[in-house]
Amino acid sequence: MCGIVGYTGGQPAQEIVLESLKKLEYRGYDSSGIAMHEGKLVICKKEGPIANMEAELTESKSTLAIAHTRWATHGAPSDVNAHPHSDEEISIAVVHNGTIDNYLEIRESLEAEGHNFRSDSDSEILPLLISKYYSGNLVEAVNKTLDVIRGIFTIAAIHKDNPDEIVAVRNETPLVIGLGNSENFISSDIYAILKYTQEMIYPEDYQIVRVTSDKVEVLDRDLNLLDYNVETVEKYTEVAEKGGFEHYMLKEIFEQPKALQDSLTELLVESPLERLGLNWKIGSMSIVACGTSYHAGLVGKYVIEQLTAIPVSVSYSSEFRYAAPVQGVGGLLSSRPLVILISQSGETADTLAAARAAKQQGCHTIAICNVPGSRITREVDGVIITKSGQEIGVAATKTFMTQMQALYALAVNLAFNSGSLDHPQTKLWESEIRKIPSKVSQVLNNCESIRDLVPHFVKAKSVFFIGRNINYPLALEGALKLKEISYIHAEGYPAGELKHGPLALLSKDTPVVAIAVQDHTYSKLISNIEEISARKAPVITVAQKGDQLVPKISDHFFELPDIDPVLSPFPVAVFLQLLSYYIAHELGTEIDKPRNLAKSVTVE
Ligand code: AGP
Repeated sequence: MCGIVGYTGGQPAQEIVLESLKKLEYRGYDSSGIAMHEGKLVICKKEGPIANMEAELTESKSTLAIAHTRWATHGAPSDVNAHPHSDEEISIAVVHNGTIDNYLEIRESLEAEGHNFRSDSDSEILPLLISKYYSGNLVEAVNKTLDVIRGIFTIAAIHKDNPDEIVAVRNETPLVIGLGNSENFISSDIYAILKYTQEMIYPEDYQIVRVTSDKVEVLDRDLNLLDYNVETVEKYTEVAEKGGFEHYMLKEIFEQPKALQDSLTELLVESPLERLGLNWKIGSMSIVACGTSYHAGLVGKYVIEQLTAIPVSVSYSSEFRYAAPVQGVGGLLSSRPLVILISQSGETADTLAAARAAKQQGCHTIAICNVPGSRITREVDGVIITKSGQEIGVAATKTFMTQMQALYALAVNLAFNSGSLDHPQTKLWESEIRKIPSKVSQVLNNCESIRDLVPHFVKAKSVFFIGRNINYPLALEGALKLKEISYIHAEGYPAGELKHGPLALLSKDTPVVAIAVQDHTYSKLISNIEEISARKAPVITVAQKGDQLVPKISDHFFELPDIDPVLSPFPVAVFLQLLSYYIAHELGTEIDKPRNLAKSVTVE
């Protein structure tokens, strides 16, 4: 939440940081701002999307800039609460991502010293503190500020005395330094600066980084210079453009066959379990995640338990860390428990906290993540990288798909390793997994029939999604997608649960989306559809190719490609994503940037 970029080098900085900042808009879009050096510090900041701030800018020759896009925590979205913040004399400008826990007491003591605050933001204490401690050395001033503040943060500061210096530091929120040729960058993620460099430094918490155009220095809290690693990251295709699609979300939905295909190579490699350090008999497993990633985890539970008989519990990250310690088999740590953390961004605060709690309890931790080099990938024992490419739409789509795929591949590998699948069975599973991209493409090719369903939803105040067994998590995901981007209230339910309460809410104005695949729960689901129809609620069913019954008992019907029910979550997910997208489109909502949300949730 909140995105930060900075540049110092030989080129006009404004254009570079603006272009990079736009790639961070997924992190928040309540306001944005930029600070540059034009003999003195010049700051421009504006409420709303980056385009509002950009419209206020004039040409600049500054070769130094820091910029920020905000997701509001302290203080409403407004010009005055936008970053960069500065001291009264505008000698220092600071951008901040995160929250300062003790800002109120610091603010009071600064006010007692005679400072006037202009904003409601916790971040405004930062330039005032840095200015207070500044005596010609910005690194020292930032270091002294760190003695005083508590919280989570990435901070970047510039001073009017030096037109070629950015000082940055992080604690628990992301910061990458990009190395260029006589120019250097700072950023909240690699994607924002990948156009300029693939050489990255990932500073640790509380390491102070001094960036000039020809040098990057990393210092500890005693201001000793530290050695650092430079990592070369893989170049991803530029995603700045929507490639002819109206929204990133739609583009990303259509990119799913490719994302699945690209991830396959990584997932079905030789001996993946060894690479993940999974060389012991696993007695139990916990999957921990938030939001859509949690739903992928629920799907994973079904597949892993079915193939391996290893008991799997799935928890929300925000609950996991406060729950009782993870237990091995028989309640004892006789077998080291495995905890799989799923996070597309790799920086969700709740999931990071859960990863740390798991490690403290002696669990083996594995992350399934879409962002190489992200925080979680650096903290766990093993990493599965999904290769969806950058996802910009706040609603997760292609990353959900590859998370599920990773869990299927893991399940097959674990099953082979434990002997519950023999070699031919394993090969059969792998060949089924390889077919998923083409099944997903078949749903995409049929997108117009999904769009045709929109009129049955646009007037609804509430929509229910139901499924059973492996498609129960898909019902949850369908509801999350719809509420997130269309703002229509939606609930996902196990189909068998409606009669235990929610049936009371159904009427002709409450559409129900039923996922009916022909597994062992099919006949029960058919009964549930009948129960709903009897209450006059319209039923829109997604069912398998060739199903003769479902079209007769449903008001509307979408046919999935021919697929084994156990693989049905993939095409079902595409159906649900497109349905939500087209409904939201019809309602005219901000699909890529839904109100109140941000792509990376770095607060607990
Ligand atoms: C999904 O559409 C969401 N925007 C959200 O629920 C997301 O899945 C969740 O915040 C977890 O994010 P992560 O995968 O980056 O950890």
